[in-house]
Amino acid sequence: MQGTAIARPNIALIKYWGKRDTKRNLPAVGSISITLRELFTRMAVEFDASLGADTLTVNGTPDNAMLPRLASCLDRIAGPDRHRAHIASDCNFPIAAGLASSASAFAAITVAAAAAAGKELERDSLASLAGQASGSAARSLFGGFVELKNMDDDIRCATILDAADWPLSVIVAITETGPKAVGSTEAMEISRRTSPFYSTWIQQQEQDLATARSAIAERDFEKLAAVTEHNCLKMHSIMWASRPPLVYWNAATMRCLETVRQLQGQSLGVFFTIDAGPQVKAVCLPEHSDAVANALRATAGVTDLMVTGLGDGAKLETDA
Ligand code: PMV
Repeated sequence: MQGTAIARPNIALIKYWGKRDTKRNLPAVGSISITLRELFTRMAVEFDASLGADTLTVNGTPDNAMLPRLASCLDRIAGPDRHRAHIASDCNFPIAAGLASSASAFAAITVAAAAAAGKELERDSLASLAGQASGSAARSLFGGFVELKNMDDDIRCATILDAADWPLSVIVAITETGPKAVGSTEAMEISRRTSPFYSTWIQQQEQDLATARSAIAERDFEKLAAVTEHNCLKMHSIMWASRPPLVYWNAATMRCLETVRQLQGQSLGVFFTIDAGPQVKAVCLPEHSDAVANALRATAGVTDLMVTGLGDGAKLETDA
């Protein structure tokens, strides 16, 4: 009745923003991401017949903030009549600050809970279950470059290129570590209802996905850089034009973009992307990783830095 799994966050290059079905948490658009190697969430799930309620510890401390969403995830996997569970989560990076902590958390708990419930599920089914908890979590079931496709009634994820086949580096510049003001689920709905750019976003996504797909297949860094930055700024434009406006950036976020532009001006292979938070993720060629890290570290307002390569999908650590 016990399972422990480890999953890594992923960063979308072609973003998911908006839902076509809020009940089943189905995304309105497909997306393409990269799974990171050095950051992780480990989740241990133990079903216990003697427990009256689920319990959660985060990095060793009792913390109920995520418990309702994690409990629903366990219900979906083990059924609502399941035994209550001890859940222990350990994470080596800041939670809920636009670093995709929900992606690694829900990917890890899905794999851990399926094992603890004695269910042998295909990776596709695990991705679909994780996606019902957090859209981006489905992608963390897979490693390297991952595409999430919208199917008729579900989603389908797959690795489109292995990490080893194009070993890019990612530098995460942390500019603020508090939890975000508006969670992504609520923010996506505000955008869908109020942003004048939302319908154009949906219409254009297929084109951006196709460009990114071919850039990845051809290992064309410049092409991937251009479409990733465009898709990111387009997503933030939708947010900025929502009512109320959704602005996740701070002054240091903007300064990091200027740093990346300066590095590009010196012909370094680097591009940026930003999710629903103030951190800047710089994707670069491994040979430029030190120069990019040094420049971002020296950027005013950057409080911390994480450097990582691309990694694997979610994995079970122990069996039931
Ligand atoms: O999966 P969620 O609900 O945390 O939404 C993720 C949304 C973005 O990170 C902004 C984009 C993405 O595709 O990961």
